[in-house]
Amino acid sequence: MNVQLQHIVRNMPKAELHMHIEGSLEPELIFALAQRNGVQLPYPSVEALREAYAFQDLQSFLDIYYAGASVLLKEQDFYDMTAAYLDRAKADHVRHTEIFFDPQTHTARGVPMGDVIHGIHRACADSEVSATLILCFLRHLSEEDALATLEAALPYRDRFIGVGLDSSEVGHPPEKFARVFARARELGLHLVAHAGEEGPPAYIASALDVLHVERIDHGVRVLEDAALTRRVAAEKIALTVCPLSNVKLCVFDDMGGHNLLQLMDAGLVVTINSDDPAYFGGYVNANYEAVFASLPLGLQHAYDLAKNSFTASFLPQADKQKFIDELDAYFAAFNVV
Ligand code: ADE
Ligand code: ZN
Repeated sequence: MNVQLQHIVRNMPKAELHMHIEGSLEPELIFALAQRNGVQLPYPSVEALREAYAFQDLQSFLDIYYAGASVLLKEQDFYDMTAAYLDRAKADHVRHTEIFFDPQTHTARGVPMGDVIHGIHRACADSEVSATLILCFLRHLSEEDALATLEAALPYRDRFIGVGLDSSEVGHPPEKFARVFARARELGLHLVAHAGEEGPPAYIASALDVLHVERIDHGVRVLEDAALTRRVAAEKIALTVCPLSNVKLCVFDDMGGHNLLQLMDAGLVVTINSDDPAYFGGYVNANYEAVFASLPLGLQHAYDLAKNSFTASFLPQADKQKFIDELDAYFAAFNVV
């Protein structure tokens, strides 16, 4: 990638719409929190933990990701984790982020729901970066568990803007969560779901038809179904693509083989995101830099990806426009838009 394009991509204002806050726990912070809380880790050192970050698929990652999250016990732990991520996001010129969190990972260990939500929310309130929260249900657990989780979160309804669906995809289709998404919809929450990461395009269709989601997280397998691709493009359903994650979890063999450009060429609203930045080799700018280094992308793509990140956000229209105006002013010198 040429030096000027790299500089532009790095410094342009952007939003991040797909990142799991538990996936921002760096090994150093995992060890510091383990020590603070007296939690025994199955790894002798920071280096040994980092060496375990070689994944064959989504499940091999999730096993380590849930083990890492076991050090989070106190409200302050959630604050510290979130503050560390927001500092990294600010350094990457992220203006707005919609943060996923997995309450079931914590409440199952006896952590009160209020401590999870308050710790994450307090760090968001203290940050210069605009940040909102999306509560994700773990799809390997039952729908009853998800319904109980939503009810337990209702006292904190004003602290999160939406719900999502994550964890092991294959064998846990969106239909399994029809009732809990219907309930979330009644409550006026925004709706998203992981679909078409490892799972088939049919999961993308049922996330739209059964869950009524407004964005698809990942969705890279949509291109296997031409009619569905045309539909997702026509309905302007955004895909929150996570390139480094896709390579680390072997969805694609290498970045040169990633279908990001084909997705854009098919007229889809594509965004770039970090997913689990501590585990997959970098924060959002590392994701932009990896795709720009490996695929034939230019200045117009950079602008489109950043603009999509704001357009596809759940910000009020006036806030979207404010950030898009900032983006346009940034790009005005470079003859795009
Ligand atoms: N939880 C954290 N990261 C995830 C991913 N990439 N897919 C599904 N669930 C996740
Ligand atoms: Zn994800």
